[in-house]
Amino acid sequence: MKSLHQRAIVYCVIVVCGSGVSAQPKGFNYDESKVPEFSLPDPLVDASGNAVDTAKAWVNGRRQEVMALFADHVYGRIPETKISLTSTLIESDSKAVNGRATRKQIRLDLSRGDRKVSLGLLMYLPNLEGRASAGTFVGLNFQGNHTIQNDPRIAVPTSWVRDRNDGSVKQHRATEAGRGIASSRWPVEKIVARGYGLATVYYGDIDPDFDDGFKNGVHQLFPDSADGTPTGNAWGSIATWAWGLSRVVDYLEQDKDVDAGRIILMGHSRLGKTSLWAGAHDERFAVVISNDSGCGGAALNRRRFGETVQRINTSFPHWFCDNFVKYNDNEDELPVDQHMLLSLVAPRPVLVCSAEDDRWADPHGEFLSARFADPVYRLLGTDGIAQTTMPATNEPLLSRIGYHIRPGKHGVTLQDWQVYMDFSGKHLPRPKREN
Ligand code: GCU
Repeated sequence: MKSLHQRAIVYCVIVVCGSGVSAQPKGFNYDESKVPEFSLPDPLVDASGNAVDTAKAWVNGRRQEVMALFADHVYGRIPETKISLTSTLIESDSKAVNGRATRKQIRLDLSRGDRKVSLGLLMYLPNLEGRASAGTFVGLNFQGNHTIQNDPRIAVPTSWVRDRNDGSVKQHRATEAGRGIASSRWPVEKIVARGYGLATVYYGDIDPDFDDGFKNGVHQLFPDSADGTPTGNAWGSIATWAWGLSRVVDYLEQDKDVDAGRIILMGHSRLGKTSLWAGAHDERFAVVISNDSGCGGAALNRRRFGETVQRINTSFPHWFCDNFVKYNDNEDELPVDQHMLLSLVAPRPVLVCSAEDDRWADPHGEFLSARFADPVYRLLGTDGIAQTTMPATNEPLLSRIGYHIRPGKHGVTLQDWQVYMDFSGKHLPRPKREN
């Protein structure tokens, strides 16, 4: 295949990739024929205009350059300061999930000097009886660990939660009424039945999801960047959640019940954006999965299909760094686009999942990112994506860059999980212990 640096990519295509538009804000483009012509920056041409044509040149040079571009222009820089981590087992039950799994609840204390922030980690690890673990999924949840299963023993978070009108949150605090309300998104029984474990943390424990000028959550550990006047490339919430995911891996590496070589990162929507940036940063994530991540995640910014850079910066000013605002209605000036974010995961397997009716997240733009990450995967000696045209609904591409689109709307379904597990099962290295 011709590599991207041999040609400028001018891409404008008419594809109808979904029927029906549902819950899509008005005033944005959902018409493929109105996608403007655009030219994508080439991951394999460096800032000086030189071709990057060896794996070494990518790994030792261009990759760092692209990381820095995303940090400085999109997500903000993640501080390198080391913090200390201690873990305390709060509760465990070896007969969870009808005896098929062990549930553990662990408090992770992150501290620096006299400042401390705690995260609540909930884990389900399959009772393997001599079999090897298939891998452990790591994912942040939106409303609290107690929402993923209806189980009175799961701790309710004490940190800030976005208010809802169903009684599950009152005055920004989670209530008992929320138990199990997100269980359809976390099919724990099916996950452990296939030999996978699950580790999850409420994302608001890491950084509450509102704009407070970078002061709450783990920002408290970094007072140097929390004075309310962040610089242009100070980390936004997506980068902060990504940092928190790496701290979860710091813990998992110490847990003898987890095979730290088989950690699978999964995130949905804003947390799908997060999983891509976390996966780029931290190579301990052996597989990286983004579900319906859309703008600022897998979707190409330059298409301006569905959610745009301007809209996301206006509605969620705290997610990205301040420099990203420069690209409001000015996408062509971005030194990167989101195919380069997927490239940063290479050569590890990356899976992009979309939903047909989720046009706000631009499924076709999500596919194109996957497609245009392919040259980097091939340069690193792996297969990239199996086909260059968008696959049909319900026909997952499980190549090293995977892509799947299912019917229905924005969300996480059991069908999505089956694809995550099929993909991970295909790509993870063989387990350490076999029966
Ligand atoms: C909004 C936002 C999206 C985001 C989603 C979510 O719809 O516009 O960018 O992915 O919320 O995280 O739920």
